[in-house]
Amino acid sequence: MISAHAPGKVILFGEHAVVYGRPALAVPVHQVNVTVRIYPIQGHVAGQILLQAPQIGYSDWLHSADSEHPLAKATYLTLQKISASAFDSIRMEISSTIPIASGLGSSAAVSIAIIRALSKHFAAPLAPEDQSRIAYEVEKLQHGSPSGVDNTVIAYEKPVFFTAGEEPKPFSIGAPFHLVIADTGISSATGEAVAKVRSNWQKEREYHEALFDQIGEIARLAQRAIRDGQIHVLGPLMNHNQVLLEALGVSSPELERLIDVCRKAGALGAKLSGGGLGGNIIALVEAHTSQEIVHALRTAGASLTILTKVGE
Ligand code: PMV
Repeated sequence: MISAHAPGKVILFGEHAVVYGRPALAVPVHQVNVTVRIYPIQGHVAGQILLQAPQIGYSDWLHSADSEHPLAKATYLTLQKISASAFDSIRMEISSTIPIASGLGSSAAVSIAIIRALSKHFAAPLAPEDQSRIAYEVEKLQHGSPSGVDNTVIAYEKPVFFTAGEEPKPFSIGAPFHLVIADTGISSATGEAVAKVRSNWQKEREYHEALFDQIGEIARLAQRAIRDGQIHVLGPLMNHNQVLLEALGVSSPELERLIDVCRKAGALGAKLSGGGLGGNIIALVEAHTSQEIVHALRTAGASLTILTKVGE
């Protein structure tokens, strides 16, 4: 048996605006991940792959699966890339601790873990840029115009300053900082939030372009602050980014309730992370208040909380 993993991710700054060419900052989150295990199938006709994801009740042979199903597509594209043809049949089992449709990069992580497992099984190593490129093709199934930030940060497993169409820029972290991630428990398809922003943008282009510009500027300021270890600047930048996300129409009462709870419990700043309309919030916290904030979020009904240190 061989196994491979891929982490979750959070977007620190810049979601949605990144779809319109502005930069975003994202970091991997190793506390949650996807695992893919590959087992040989003895005594079976050669060249077949059984795909299984018990958590979502999925089990199908690759040759009979819908080729546009994300699990099948990631598998096909990888087999094509590594030119795997004649091989003994295998069973590929996918399991995940990343909540689905919640802004933590579940779909991209599933693709990257499949890509890594197959390339390991066939002893055909794939560089992060190749992993990212394949996963990007699969991300297109989620919504028509993904920026590529999720597949990039997960494939590279490094903090990235990302602009669509440009080489991702890993960025250095001047001083580590603590984040609390909290899930509203409300799943929300990224495609829906992206479609909502697009429809609003089509109605009022100038206004939305101005919002995207401001979000992009926040991402640039945040990157410099992180590089220089000026962590105190990030809290107000998160709060400002949240106001702009609210103006884009992708926040929700549940997200705002958790944001309010952690600010009141001492967080330096907080915002939604990812597509929004549900899913997760992130909060910048100090080490000495982090446990209290986690407790307050749990009491307020967060379905999952993660405390993570960025830059370790
Ligand atoms: O919700 P997530 O984790 O898929 O993040 C989506 C980020 C967006 O900027 C909203 C979309 C994109 O393609 O970048």
